[in-house]
Amino acid sequence: MAIRVVRTVSALRRAVNRWRAAGERVALVPTMGALHGGHIALVRAARRRARRVIVSIFVNPAQFAPSEDLASYPRSFEADLAALADMAVDLVWAPAVAQMYPPGFATRIVPEGAATVGLEDKFRPHFFSGVATVVAKLLVQCAPDFAMFGEKDYQQLKVVTRLAQDLDLPVKIVAVATVREQDGLALSSRNSYLSASQRAAAPTLYQVLKDCAGRIARGELAARVLDEGGAAIERAGFVLDYLEARHADTLEPIGSVKDGPIRLLVAARIGKTRLIDNIAV
Ligand code: PAJ
Repeated sequence: MAIRVVRTVSALRRAVNRWRAAGERVALVPTMGALHGGHIALVRAARRRARRVIVSIFVNPAQFAPSEDLASYPRSFEADLAALADMAVDLVWAPAVAQMYPPGFATRIVPEGAATVGLEDKFRPHFFSGVATVVAKLLVQCAPDFAMFGEKDYQQLKVVTRLAQDLDLPVKIVAVATVREQDGLALSSRNSYLSASQRAAAPTLYQVLKDCAGRIARGELAARVLDEGGAAIERAGFVLDYLEARHADTLEPIGSVKDGPIRLLVAARIGKTRLIDNIAV
């Protein structure tokens, strides 16, 4: 059966209201499309939690800077629908930009806390207000009991979890582990930008994260381990934006495992492509 695609807030509300009136739980998987195995893992996790699953597909202009890849961001709507039809997804929420941001739209959410710790926010200052604004709208529009987010975008996961709490949204934000290629590279829509040689270098990010996590867990000084890790990433052909040890909950800087659970986070550019990844220590 063809999957149901909804493009207006009113039609979306009617569908969700019917489900809720029947006592069915709803899970939302927000995406920007170009679906891959990471997104599919989120859909599977949603299925396990709720009778009804909504996948949103919306390439959100508000989270791209003018210099970034909004125009070239991969779009594969028909293939996305086919992948989701196999997953028994109940509804695809695919609003046009003018439905999400109608003329006169004038309200933005500007998150603080984990959104201002100097990781992604330092390199993409516009990013988290764009994400927070669209995610808040998606959560209000779809009124889900659960919303699934990948650990792949760890800082985003923390920002969204806080947003739902701070706005008293009656939704549980569920974290889903990062899905990787065999060689360790985290699946990402942006991996399609990589040339063959860049693709061959890309697993270095995960190898370095794993190596650094092991050494820090064994008691080596984080600052030194990360300096060496950063150098290894640059030797592989990347320009490093950051490789940092942060508190896994607050994302504040942290020096040692004695001060709390550590998450290592990395962002680096190879050619025109920017990749991010992270792991627990
Ligand atoms: P997008 O990059 O399409 O990712 C959608 C969701 O899939 C996010 O929660 C992301 O963390 C998760 N994801 C991506 N790659 C993954 C992987 N390899 N393993 C597990 N999960 C993965 O993130 C966004 O879109 C947008 O910012 C969005 C939240 C939709 C707001 O516009």
